[in-house]
Amino acid sequence: MRQTASPTTATALPLSELYRRVERHIPPFEWPILADDIAAILELKNERNAVILAHNYQTPEIFHTVADIVGDSLALAREAARTDADIIMLAGVHFMAETAKLLNPGKTVLIPDLKAGCSLAASITAADIRLLRERYPSMPIVTYVNTSAAVKAESDICCTSSNAKKIVEALGAPRVIMLPDEYLARNTAAQTKVEIIAWKGHCEVHERFTAGDIRSLRESHPGITVLAHPECPPEVIAECDFSGATAAMADFVDKKRPPRVALLIECAMSDNVALQYPELEFVRPCNLCPHMKRITLPKIRRTLETMTHEVTVDPEIAERARHTVERMMAMG
Ligand code: 13P
Ligand code: SF4
Repeated sequence: MRQTASPTTATALPLSELYRRVERHIPPFEWPILADDIAAILELKNERNAVILAHNYQTPEIFHTVADIVGDSLALAREAARTDADIIMLAGVHFMAETAKLLNPGKTVLIPDLKAGCSLAASITAADIRLLRERYPSMPIVTYVNTSAAVKAESDICCTSSNAKKIVEALGAPRVIMLPDEYLARNTAAQTKVEIIAWKGHCEVHERFTAGDIRSLRESHPGITVLAHPECPPEVIAECDFSGATAAMADFVDKKRPPRVALLIECAMSDNVALQYPELEFVRPCNLCPHMKRITLPKIRRTLETMTHEVTVDPEIAERARHTVERMMAMG
């Protein structure tokens, strides 16, 4: 699975070559409309020395043509810290752009739509964390990256779905608070001896999958391998064949090549992976993330033309929030 690419890969390729990457998803009559925006975006990126970081949930025409770096939340944070581009555009949601800004205070970070939020990030505030600290003064607070910078600033360390267990255990405490995703916390608790106190936040995309979905998939598609993201409820994780962050799911497909497979995940992720493995049968019982879907090619083009919307973080909050992200990156 394509998880990262050189910053010049897409720009260096002719449009016909880029179309080959998505031709099984985008019919020929649609391509000229998209190609106009794609050509303009590639040119603007060069002019402005900009890099586009795209999350795995971005649609194939973004993921496979204009993105320089693609991956899961952790990979995007790591790449954001590494890039020497002057401008970082996040084709993803607001907390991802904030994380990129935290790691690059001197750079311009852009997002094509400021309203691209996240139900998890919206489920908790900095004031909530301060109240938890009063109630559990000696307990470390592990905060999922799917949160605002203000919430990160009040926390001890961040985690993503790919390093949650590692971070929780590395703290060496018998009990930790993990927030805001109740299911990620419960799914992590099932793999460790560390006691985890959870918050009640949920991902509106993954909470909709059920164990019954998996059972009917197995009935209707014998031999199917089912992968589920750890933001799904624990009873879903119990029924699936493999659970992991988006990058781990992609790796699983790459290494195991299951002939018939379903990813319980945001729709674009299955589309992106399926394009790379035409020999595998993908059954796609997906849910759309309305926040990720706010990002479109015309908006990316406009963002690079107008240099809006810039994502900024209050410097005092940024300093404390950066510490929690960097601490995570040093540990996991
Ligand atoms: P990962 O890409 O880290 O698995 O996160 C999934 C997600 O839902 C991001 O919003
Ligand atoms: Fe947030 Fe869920 Fe959308 Fe990811 S898929 S951005 S966790 S609402």
